[in-house]
Amino acid sequence: MTAGGECAVVTGAASGFGLGLAAECAARGMRVALLDRDGDRVGAEAEKLAHEYGVDAFGMAVDVADDTAVRAAADAVRDRFARTDLVVSNVGVQLFGAVERLTDAEWQWVLDVNVVGSARVARAFLPLLRESPAARLAFTSSSGVLAPASRMAAYQASKFAVLGLAETLRLELRDEDIRVTVVFPSGMVSRHLETSQDAQPDRLRRSIGEPEDFAAMHASNPGLAASVIDPRQAAGNVIDALLRGDRYAITHGDLTQAVTERHQDIHQAAVAARDAANGT
Ligand SMILES: NC(=O)c1ccc[n+]([C@@H]2O[C@H](COP(=O)([O-])OP(=O)(O)OC[C@H]3O[C@@H](n4cnc5c(N)ncnc54)[C@H](O)[C@@H]3O)[C@@H](O)[C@H]2O)c1
Repeated sequence: MTAGGECAVVTGAASGFGLGLAAECAARGMRVALLDRDGDRVGAEAEKLAHEYGVDAFGMAVDVADDTAVRAAADAVRDRFARTDLVVSNVGVQLFGAVERLTDAEWQWVLDVNVVGSARVARAFLPLLRESPAARLAFTSSSGVLAPASRMAAYQASKFAVLGLAETLRLELRDEDIRVTVVFPSGMVSRHLETSQDAQPDRLRRSIGEPEDFAAMHASNPGLAASVIDPRQAAGNVIDALLRGDRYAITHGDLTQAVTERHQDIHQAAVAARDAANGT
C-alpha cells in the first residue's frame, strides 16, 4: 500500500497513539483525516502534519459516542478525499475501580465509547472502504487483553470486546478483501488518564482512579510499568503491520510469555475436552 493518493482516517487522533499513527501515515505520503472529540486540538495537530509532511490533512471534532457525528465524519472524508484506504478506530477511555465498585452506568459509558464507538466507526466507514482497492480496518485494543491487571475490569472487558468485534468483522468481510487488524499497545506516555477524565459525562464524574487502584493494578501485573514508550515510537512499530493488513500488531516485545501461557492453558483444556469426548 501507499502507491500514491491513499487516505487514512484515525479516531482519537488529537494526541498519543492516534496522533502517532496519523503522523506515520502522513510521513508515508498518505492524506489523513484526524477525528477526535477535542476539535481544537485535533485541528491544530492536522495543520502541523500538513505543514510537516506536505500532505492534505484535516481535523474534525467527532465524538464516537454520537452516531450522527460519526456518520457526518464519513461524509466529510468522502467530500474531501473521495476515498479512504485505512481506518483506525483508536478511541478508548479508561476508568479504574474494583469490580465490586464499578456501577452499571460506569460500565455502560466505557462499553459505549470503546466498543459501540468502534462498531459505529466501522459501520460508517465501510461503504467508503469498499471503494478502495486495498482497504484496511484496524482497531486499537490493549495489551491488557493479553496480560490483564486488576482494577481495570470495565476497560479490559471493553478491549476484549473490541477484539471480538474485530474477529467477527474479519469473518464478515472475508470475501471483500478488507483486511482487519487488532492492535495491542502496552504502556505509552500519553494523555490517556487526563483525556479519559475530561470525557466522563457530568453525571458520572469522579476521580478516574484512587491510589489503591493503581497500587493493586501494579501488584497484579508488575510488568505493566516496565516499559513505557513514546506513542510515536509505538505507532512506528505497528503502522507497517496495519498497511500490510496483518491480523495482529503488538507494540512491545515483552508479551511472549503471557501469550504462550494462556494459549497453552486453552490448548490443554481443548485437549482434555477432546479426550473426554473420545472417552480416552
Ligand atoms: N497509553 C497507554 O499506555 C495505552 C495502553 C494500551 C492501550 N491504549 C489505547 O490506545 C488508544 C489511544 O490512547 P492514548 O494512550 O493515545 O490516549 P490519549 O488520551 O493521548 O488519546 C486518546 C484520544 O481519544 C480522544 N477521545 C476520548 N474519548 C473520545 C470520544 N468519545 N470520541 C472521540 N475522541 C475521543 C481523546 O480526546 C484523546 O485525544 C486508546 O484506545 C487506549 O485505550 C493506551
